[in-house]
Amino acid sequence: MSEKEIIPYRPGLEGVTAGISAISDVIAAENRLIYRGYDIRDLAQHCTFEEVAYLLLMGELPTRAQLQQFETELKAHREPPEAVYQVLRALPKQGSPMAALQVGVATLGMLDPAANDNSHAANLKKAIRLTASMATLVANSYRILQGQDPVAPRSDLGHAANFLYMLFGREPEPLHAQVMNLTFILYAEHGYNASTFTARVIASTLADMYSAVVGAIGALRGALHGGANEAAMEAILEIGTPERAEAWVMEKLAQKARIMGFGHREYKTGDARAIILKPYVRQLAEHAGRMDIYQIQEIMEQVMLREKNLFPNVDFPAAAVYYLMGIPIPLYTPIFAAARIVGWAAHVMEQHDENRLIRPRSDYKGPRDLTFVPLDQRG
Ligand SMILES: CC(C)(COP(=O)(O)OP(=O)(O)OC[C@H]1O[C@@H](n2cnc3c(N)ncnc32)[C@H](O)[C@@H]1OP(=O)(O)O)[C@@H](O)C(=O)NCCC(=O)NCCS
Repeated sequence: MSEKEIIPYRPGLEGVTAGISAISDVIAAENRLIYRGYDIRDLAQHCTFEEVAYLLLMGELPTRAQLQQFETELKAHREPPEAVYQVLRALPKQGSPMAALQVGVATLGMLDPAANDNSHAANLKKAIRLTASMATLVANSYRILQGQDPVAPRSDLGHAANFLYMLFGREPEPLHAQVMNLTFILYAEHGYNASTFTARVIASTLADMYSAVVGAIGALRGALHGGANEAAMEAILEIGTPERAEAWVMEKLAQKARIMGFGHREYKTGDARAIILKPYVRQLAEHAGRMDIYQIQEIMEQVMLREKNLFPNVDFPAAAVYYLMGIPIPLYTPIFAAARIVGWAAHVMEQHDENRLIRPRSDYKGPRDLTFVPLDQRG
C-alpha cells in the first residue's frame, strides 16, 4: 500500500476487512455461521464440543480414532499444575472471576517452558492444554474465590459434563450436560470479534499464545462483547415478572439505554447462534418450573423487534439457559471464554503461521504547531 493511498476510516472499523482467515465465516444475510466450511446448525445438532474443537484447531473433522486420541489428550490436560492453584488461592476473594482466569492463564504460561515457541506444533500443544484446562480454571477459581476447595476433573465425563461436575461437585443431569455442550460449541468461534482481534494483534507482535489469550479475556469482559450475557441476566432479574417486561424495556429505550443481549455488528436479522439456542430456554424453563424467565425473554424480544427492529444475540438465550441450570451469574462470561479459547487459539496459530505485524494508523486531529513554554513560565 502506498503512503498516499486513502482507506476510508469507519468508526469501530465497521465493515472494514482487517484480515483474511480460513477459520469461520459469518454469512449475516442468511443468519448463518460456518466453522471451517461446516454450518453451525449441523455441528450443533451432531457434535460434541471436543469434535468441534478438533475441527477448529486442526482444520478438518476428526475420524473416530482421531477424536478418541484428541479426547485422551484433552483429559490428560484438564487439571492445571498445583502451582496454578497456589496462585489462585492467594488472590483477593472479592476479585472478579474474569481477572482470576487471566491470572490462571498467565500462570500456565509462566510454567510452560515452550511458552515462547510460536511454531505451529508448539502452538497446537498450547491450544490443547488451554482448551482442556480453561474450563477447570473457571470452575475451580470460582470455587476458590468462594472459599471452597477445587474439585478434581473426572476423566469418564465429556468436557461439558465435567465442567458442570467440577462447578457443582455432582454429576449433571443429561439435559444440562447437553445444553452446556451446545453453548460451548456456539461460543467457540466467531471471526474477527473484538477479543479474537485483540488476540491476533498481540500474537502479531510475536508475543506468545498465553499473552494473546490473557488480552483476549480482557477484551471479552466488556458488556458490549462477552459481558453481555451477565448484563442480560441481571436485567431479566431486575424486571422480575413478565407483567413488568414491556414497561421496563420501553423505559430503557426512552432513556436511550442499550438492552444487553440485543443487536449485533454483523447479524442484522437474527444471530445464527441465538436461533439454535432459543428452544432450550423454553425446555429448561419448563424443566425448572421457571416459565417466568422464558416469558420475560419472549416479551423483551417482541418489544425490541417492534420498537428497534433488533434481534437477540447469542448472549440473550445463553444468559437464561445458564441461569436455569443454576450457574452463578459472574461465571457466564468466564464460561464464554472457556469456549472461545478454541477460536482464540486457532486464530493465534493462523496469525503466527503467516505473520505480519498488525499496526494500522490513526488520523491525528489535535494541534500541530504549538509554541513550547518551559515549565517555570507556565503560571
Ligand atoms: C453489539 C452492538 C455493540 C453492535 O452495535 P453496532 O453495530 O455498533 O450497532 P449500532 O451501535 O450502530 O446501533 C444501531 C442502532 O441500534 C441501537 N442499538 C443497538 N443495539 C442496541 C441495544 N442492545 N439496545 C438498544 N439499542 C440498540 C443503537 O442505539 C443505534 O440506534 P440509533 O441509530 O437510534 O442511534 C450493539 O448492538 C450493542 O450494544 N448491543 C448490546 C450489547 C450486546 O449484547 N453485546 C453482545 C454482542 S454479541
